[in-house]
Amino acid sequence: MKKYFITGATGTIGKEVVTALLEKNNMVVAATRNTEKSKGLFGSKVTPIHFDYQNRNTFNQIEGTDGVFIIGPPLNPALFELLEPFVNYLQDNYTGRVVYLSGYGMDTLKEMPFHGLMEDKLKTSNLNWNIVRPGFFMQNFGNYERENIEQRNVLFSPAGEGKTPFVSSRDIAGSIAVLLTDANRKHQTHILTGAKAYSHFDVAKLLTTITGNPIIYANPDPDTYRKVLKDSGTPNFIADYMIPIYSLIKNGNIKNTTDSIKTLTGTDPETLEDVLRRDFL
Ligand SMILES: NC(=O)c1ccc[n+]([C@@H]2O[C@H](COP(=O)([O-])OP(=O)(O)OC[C@H]3O[C@@H](n4cnc5c(N)ncnc54)[C@H](OP(=O)(O)O)[C@@H]3O)[C@@H](O)[C@H]2O)c1
Repeated sequence: MKKYFITGATGTIGKEVVTALLEKNNMVVAATRNTEKSKGLFGSKVTPIHFDYQNRNTFNQIEGTDGVFIIGPPLNPALFELLEPFVNYLQDNYTGRVVYLSGYGMDTLKEMPFHGLMEDKLKTSNLNWNIVRPGFFMQNFGNYERENIEQRNVLFSPAGEGKTPFVSSRDIAGSIAVLLTDANRKHQTHILTGAKAYSHFDVAKLLTTITGNPIIYANPDPDTYRKVLKDSGTPNFIADYMIPIYSLIKNGNIKNTTDSIKTLTGTDPETLEDVLRRDFL
């Protein structure tokens, strides 16, 4: 039985990666700062360990594992600096498989270079790497927009009229599980998307149908977005982070679909309708 070291194991993507690996009868080391949360989610099915990108003393716990999944926390513009010491440690001490979660279009985003820098670092390393670049998660609506949707009947993202093929965390995780476990896959980069691109106007319509409430998409310009966040007491760095990220949708940079999920997992990706129904009904 093979054993995999999963960072971010309690997060949106990590917990689905753990589930996908357990379904394939693998052993999992759940590597997070809060081990109680891992225990609460997975009980005795995983080995929960304390792991912190900021604490080099926690890195040697990769020993004896066959693959490592690296995911960084969201909303951190200094993500490359946070993750780099761990990747340096892997370069010196690890021969197993490594999968890194980047983001669709993020290699082109000069204001937020962290995923591109990490991709370059891995690609020029001696590691046995694969990279996934998922699009915007379908689960963002339930995770980050729920209060706006349920309490204000509004979607409030600075995405303009752009369309993008949102992707489900379960499909991302299924693809990562394949890249971690399939020895034939090496040095591959996969853009992971759903099968169809939607604008935020389209998402508002879907949410209206699903919830029975009239949800509108406010289509805020960046200044309005920044002001509304500030007035609600949100720290400025959130708008600084989100505006460039949403510009990828607004400017049409991440509008194309790929068939990577079907190619990797053998199954069609979930639809946005499926995921919104699961999250909002
Ligand atoms: N949302 C999107 O649409 C989207 C699209 C493409 C790419 N991405 C990328 O996805 C990543 C975020 O993934 P997610 O949504 O699954 O995150 P998440 O749900 O916020 O989970 C973050 C995980 O990381 C762990 N963590 C946080 N700080 C840590 C540290 N210092 N050391 C070790 N573990 C730490 C957390 O557990 P503890 O707090 O217990 O440590 C948690 O398990 C980001 O890199 C983002 O750029 C997001």
